[in-house]
Amino acid sequence: MRISNLTLAFGNKIVLKEVDLNIEPWEFIFFIGHSWSGKTTLIRSLIWDKEPMNWDIILDSWIALYKNMNEDILQEYRRNTWVIFQDYKLLESKSIYENVAFAMEVCGYSDEVIRRKVPEALEQVGLLIKKDRFAYEISGWEKQRISIARALVHDPDIIIWDEPTGNLDPETAEGIMKIFDDLNKEWKTIIIATHDKNIVDSMKKRVVAFKDKEIISDEAKGKYIL
Ligand SMILES: Nc1ncnc2c1ncn2[C@@H]1O[C@H](COP(=O)(O)OP(=O)(O)O)[C@@H](O)[C@H]1O
Ligand SMILES: [Mg+2]
Repeated sequence: MRISNLTLAFGNKIVLKEVDLNIEPWEFIFFIGHSWSGKTTLIRSLIWDKEPMNWDIILDSWIALYKNMNEDILQEYRRNTWVIFQDYKLLESKSIYENVAFAMEVCGYSDEVIRRKVPEALEQVGLLIKKDRFAYEISGWEKQRISIARALVHDPDIIIWDEPTGNLDPETAEGIMKIFDDLNKEWKTIIIATHDKNIVDSMKKRVVAFKDKEIISDEAKGKYIL
């Protein structure tokens, strides 16, 4: 993924200015930066999610791709580049299994594919043995894992998590990082936007820091420094 000379603006308010970023398929990257530094905006731009907002995208290398984008290509693109946003919604009256299956039904997968993929994804996040529990009786940690499973059913090559660990205890955060680390070892690209200093410092992965509309640092084995 190559982002070059990306400027994002809401009206005339520039949020990111002339950002350059290369991301290789095997990478595990943290995006850090204070609130409002543009992390979420950048992530949304990566999946061409400009519908709910009013912004201009100036993308040197992607402009051609974007112009040729139709709904089918876009859908395929978003399956491959899956973003887990903060406000994941669970259906409280459904089981863990049903919550993941439902997310697939909405996307139009066949029953056969759903029956195959859901157990696979639940296994990957360690939830298969709890698949019949109801959403209301599970912990925050398990809910986070459901949202990862909901991403995995689409077999994305790139998984992006926007602030996963906002309200989680250190043990949970560690568990989630273990899952992402394993996925990364299967050659999935992982991008995580986070405020959690402990996680970033302990993982020793590439860290891209955002500040004042720009990337202020980009370190291969970075720490949480702003
Ligand atoms: N829908 C919107 N309309 C106008 N400005 C927005 C909108 N969403 C975000 N912004 C602005 O974009 C900037 C970056 O926000 P955001 O990408 O959410 O940062 P972060 O994820 O790093 O906290 C902020 O100044 C914010 O006010
Ligand atoms: Mg954000």
